[in-house]
Amino acid sequence: MSKSSLTVTDNRTGKTYEIPIEHGAIRANALKQIKTGPEDFGLVSYDPAFMNTAACKSQITYIDGDAGILRHRGYPIEELAEHSTYLEVAYLLVKGELPDNERFAMWKHNITVHTMVHENLKKFMDGFRYDAHPMGMLISTIGALSTFYPEANQIFDVENRRLQTRRLIGKVPTLAAFAYRRGLGYPYNYPDNDLSYTGNFLQMMYRMTERKYKPNPVLEKALDVLFILHADHEQNCSTNAMRSVASSQVDPYSAVASATAALYGPLHGGANEAVLRMLEEIGNKDNIPAYIKRVKDGEVRLMGFGHRVYKNYDPRAKIIKKLAHEVFEVTGNSKLIDIALELERIALQDDYFVSRKLYPNVDFYSGIIYQAMNIPTKMFPVMFAIPRTAGWCAHWAELVKDDDQKIARPRQLYLGADKRAYVPIDRRPKATVAETAVSEEL
Ligand code: ACO
Repeated sequence: MSKSSLTVTDNRTGKTYEIPIEHGAIRANALKQIKTGPEDFGLVSYDPAFMNTAACKSQITYIDGDAGILRHRGYPIEELAEHSTYLEVAYLLVKGELPDNERFAMWKHNITVHTMVHENLKKFMDGFRYDAHPMGMLISTIGALSTFYPEANQIFDVENRRLQTRRLIGKVPTLAAFAYRRGLGYPYNYPDNDLSYTGNFLQMMYRMTERKYKPNPVLEKALDVLFILHADHEQNCSTNAMRSVASSQVDPYSAVASATAALYGPLHGGANEAVLRMLEEIGNKDNIPAYIKRVKDGEVRLMGFGHRVYKNYDPRAKIIKKLAHEVFEVTGNSKLIDIALELERIALQDDYFVSRKLYPNVDFYSGIIYQAMNIPTKMFPVMFAIPRTAGWCAHWAELVKDDDQKIARPRQLYLGADKRAYVPIDRRPKATVAETAVSEEL
């Protein structure tokens, strides 16, 4: 018997099975052989929300949640945040290695030449109501890109994949800035390719009548670091959406639109927006204990706290906390930072949070920085989607090249009604009010 295996006895039948273990995992399909009889489909594993299921092998990002470690292609996030740039990290994620000077110059050129969008995209933007959420606009217009590049569905062609990846990384900031300007009724700013990736984004957001926009170098750099910190995070909800949708072999624009939609939710990319609203609701440090009590009573969650994977301080939150102070030196202090610092201090001394290993996550401080940079709350998930596009593209390429992958299709445990005969509507018994309420529940 191999030492790298699991021996399982099915107590229903008394039969014993040997299941190989590879990379610390068993193949869920190996459970299928465990049956009570020929009619039995075989054992399945029940894992809502994928709490303990690896859906792929990946070489992109490593996380040790207990130790608070995050590495991209082996490089610690702390080193990348300190020494690298977002575009270089995007290269690393997508290509697997850090570039040399020549390769980086080529990559920068290749992204920059794709920052413009088709003029018709502006008409899509114009079609939204004045108060449309920019994330809704972003999701729709990224999806719309697929109609401009129909060849993008040739996903097994490596050159084609490269081209769509560059387009996505190049164009998403443009669409994001257009969505912002649409909300204000301002004319859209075309990209300025003399500027850095983040400098150009700030230019597309904020340039008014000046002929040449000069981004503040501290804010430009801070945004670049924030982009690095949000570039990838292995199999999170939106990346899982990206992989799941892309497994149908749809074009990457449609898949990135669905990943962006997943990111929109308050438990994922919407969390920093929720943090800011929470801090505003708390309003002042004296109100923190009462708010913590509401959290402990299960009335509300402490937004920006807790993480599915990190059961220790999120390493990105540490970097962001430091960054916040650098930004405030330029923008002036925010009263919300004082509330956030005090909230963190109190929570980290409270057994409720300590025992559940709830620490600040990346979103706890990012919203405060974005607010100080004059970025409206509604734009926060958009600010997350821009850098995460590189991560999504890296996972998309990995998925397409992985022979183990097929169209994603989980199993279910069917617990509904057994077979029953159809009754015509006029012969059905009249439902009671209570039954109707239950049957119409969504
Ligand atoms: N505030 C209060 N209690 C919390 C919080 C929180 N933020 N997060 C988890 N808990 C509690 C839960 O009530 C639960 O307690 P119980 O065991 O008494 O029932 C326990 O901690 C475990 O929580 P789960 O919901 O099982 O943890 P899960 O891993 O499913 O959730 C999540 C992770 C969604 C991030 C959660 O911590 C949360 O809702 N946090 C607030 C939202 C947030 O900040 N999201 C951003 C995540 S980072 C990102 O997406 C970039």
